[in-house]
Amino acid sequence: MNHFDYKNGELFCEDIAVSDIAKEVGTPLYLYSKATLERHFKAFDSGFENLDHLTCFAVKSCSNIAVLSIFSTLGGGADIVSGGELYRALSAGMDPKRIIYSGVGKTEEELRYGLQSGILLFNVESEQELHRLNSVAAELDMRAPVAFRVNPDVDPKTHAYISTGLAKNKFGIPIREALDLYVQAEGMGNINVLGVSCHIGSQLTLISPFIETLRKLKSFVGQLADKGIAIKYLDLGGGVGITYDDEKPPHPIEYAKAIEEELAGLEVTLILEPGRVIVGNAGIMVTEVQYTKTNRGGDTEKHFVVVDAGMNDLTRPSLYGAYHSISPVKEKETPLQTVDIVGPICETGDFLAKDREFPKVEQGDLLAVESAGAYGFTMASNYNSRPRVAEVMVSGDRYYVIRQRESRESLIQGETIPDFNR
Ligand code: LLP
Repeated sequence: MNHFDYKNGELFCEDIAVSDIAKEVGTPLYLYSKATLERHFKAFDSGFENLDHLTCFAVKSCSNIAVLSIFSTLGGGADIVSGGELYRALSAGMDPKRIIYSGVGKTEEELRYGLQSGILLFNVESEQELHRLNSVAAELDMRAPVAFRVNPDVDPKTHAYISTGLAKNKFGIPIREALDLYVQAEGMGNINVLGVSCHIGSQLTLISPFIETLRKLKSFVGQLADKGIAIKYLDLGGGVGITYDDEKPPHPIEYAKAIEEELAGLEVTLILEPGRVIVGNAGIMVTEVQYTKTNRGGDTEKHFVVVDAGMNDLTRPSLYGAYHSISPVKEKETPLQTVDIVGPICETGDFLAKDREFPKVEQGDLLAVESAGAYGFTMASNYNSRPRVAEVMVSGDRYYVIRQRESRESLIQGETIPDFNR
């Protein structure tokens, strides 16, 4: 459930008409509902209330510090994958003791930053990373808190680009080889082995791959115990899907109950890294129709709706062929037409929807691109020298610009024309 609803034919975010915000802030813009963010976080987190657990929001899905601060206030932590995300989480007021650091390519500088910030766990993804972390920790005279991210070789049955727990994916350490690494790490002076972690993919619509993974992890924790290695944290990653179109992902509570049952008897703190399931349907992107046109040739007649948001603002349709529901902000009773909704970028791959049945719209109409809260703004770029758009959060009948629209000047910030003759 979210707080984007039509009232008298007009889309509202909580108690404000979306068109009023667009008029004042301009388009395109990302719009988040605070009540929805809170509701989704609580719905997910409360599912695990019987278990010792920590919900670490996946910052990559929506990294605005205003959003992060809401989850921090609700007792959540952060799952980060870069020094930049660590900086964001700390700037949002997140307790470092609730921050975990995943990712295959952490640099020496990033490891140092994580250690100096006192984060809860590093999810180490290779033997070389372990050695690097040990030596950086030695330099700082510290012991690095470590979980190994194991790759369980489980098929998450999702889009190939976002499945991460198969042997052919770059992530984690093959579960069969991980035991030796734990034994090695136990003997290292500046490593504190605390956990096992994994993440098998994103936008999962089935519970079974999670359960298959958990079974493998449980058996692995047993093998560690046989070697005298006790585990304090078990991190199951993120990945619960949402409904973009007609997908039927498990309800977070159903997911939590299945995990709880499977986990019975294991004395660990469970860590979860949800992103999309919390923010995905808590945000929309609002864009304005610039032109409508029809291109004809041979047997082809193609209708286009050209809007002011492009693949640089919301890249998911172009990158993954992802479906986002799109609706006029003011309901239209006009006849349906099959259209491509496209942006201003100079690429044929620049589209928000293809062959979509859509009411006939006209210049100036506002459209809401739904389910854009996760991997929307965070994947935006300046391609075609387009300033990144504003982010706005609504709470009740008030709205707040939580990130200003970038200026033209900001586009060339940091650039210089060298004096080649000197
Ligand atoms: N933990 C780790 C280590 C991850 O790599 C991810 C997502 C998550 C947690 C959060 O997964 P979620 O709960 O959001 O599914 N850009 C793609 C999604 C990439 C996901 C990458 N990792 C998209 O737009 O669909």
